[in-house]
Amino acid sequence: MAFLADSLSRIKPSATIAVTDKARALKAAGRDIIGLGAGEPDFDTPDNIKEAAIKAIRDGKTKYTAVDGIPELKAAIVAKFKRENGLTYAVDEVSVGTGGKQVLFNALLATLNPGDEVIVPAPYWVSYPEIVALAGATPVIVTAGMETGFRLAPQALEKAITPKTKWVILNSPSNPSGAAYSAADLKALTDVLVRHPNVWVLTDDMYEHLVYDGFQFATPAQVEPRLKERTLTLNGVSKAYCMTGWRIGYAAGPKPLIKAMAVLQSQSTSNPSSISQWAAVEALNGPQDFIPRNNAAFRERRDLVVSMLNQANGIKCPRPEGAFYVFPSCEGTIGKTTVGGKKLASDDDFVAALLEEEGVAVVQGSAFGLGPHFRISYATSNAVLEDACHRIQRFCAGLR
Ligand SMILES: Cc1ncc(COP(=O)(O)O)c(C=O)c1O
Repeated sequence: MAFLADSLSRIKPSATIAVTDKARALKAAGRDIIGLGAGEPDFDTPDNIKEAAIKAIRDGKTKYTAVDGIPELKAAIVAKFKRENGLTYAVDEVSVGTGGKQVLFNALLATLNPGDEVIVPAPYWVSYPEIVALAGATPVIVTAGMETGFRLAPQALEKAITPKTKWVILNSPSNPSGAAYSAADLKALTDVLVRHPNVWVLTDDMYEHLVYDGFQFATPAQVEPRLKERTLTLNGVSKAYCMTGWRIGYAAGPKPLIKAMAVLQSQSTSNPSSISQWAAVEALNGPQDFIPRNNAAFRERRDLVVSMLNQANGIKCPRPEGAFYVFPSCEGTIGKTTVGGKKLASDDDFVAALLEEEGVAVVQGSAFGLGPHFRISYATSNAVLEDACHRIQRFCAGLR
């Protein structure tokens, strides 16, 4: 009898965390490494949010709370959905968890049975297919490549739906591509979904606030109110509020689903950190003026990286609408040999050789279900990005 659970054999560790760990280890060993693998803003958590957490500690708000969130945070989330998305939810239609990842995990584990299918457009955030597989269900990967701007085409969605489809997962702006769906793009997809009443929509809006050049964010339940009763709208404070370590994510959706998610959470982690919840209340209710300031820096970095990568031999880099990632194609480098004598047969080879020969850590596109691409996180300074892009240009120039 094997000691480890069979379910574990269905999943693999996060490739993005693996790259970050490897870059850290090489750095510790004295190598000159630039890590562009991590999915978090380099900006510090704003002071007013930190102060709210310190106050919560001083006020003794350090005990167990309601499993899926304190009423004050749920009220702040209800107000956020109304103010920013025009969506009306009651407090018992809101769930708070330890990061967006736990909320996603709860939703999928609470609803999936073996045999169920979940449509996941590729490139996808690494955790979607893994959590679906852990639940014993089948991820149905539908490619949404560079030619459609990394956006799922309505015809491709329609074709992928079967009687076994339980969810379709949408993520805009996207990790890893940065691509975002306009309201019109979403309407074309929701028009398909209204014809399939058994399919639920899980929309991951984690990067909602990180959009550039005046792009107008939209979310499915807002674009098509008829879908609201079968949509879970997921969001959190990790990215826009620079709070990745605080671990607060949330979602709004139909009450029976929210209740089932709370049951699962009550038997796993119970409530998210009480202190982080009070910090998140301040994040959502407090001043939002640092967001456009951070976005101006992100936009400048995006433009720098896109321009420099498009000057590298064999690289094609679209300019995404949001998040802090670019997802260039390295197709033009495949089949070539590096200065160090490595033949590049795939994006895995490209990424490994780039780290080995130039000390730049990026993540292979195949980890996100779409090669030959790679993901760069540009949440770091212009100087570091310039250095990294020069190294990539040199690496590509040396290919024969
Ligand atoms: C698309 C997407 N969804 C959800 C999450 C999870 O965020 P959290 O850190 O709040 O768990 C991430 C984090 O990388 C993400 O990129």
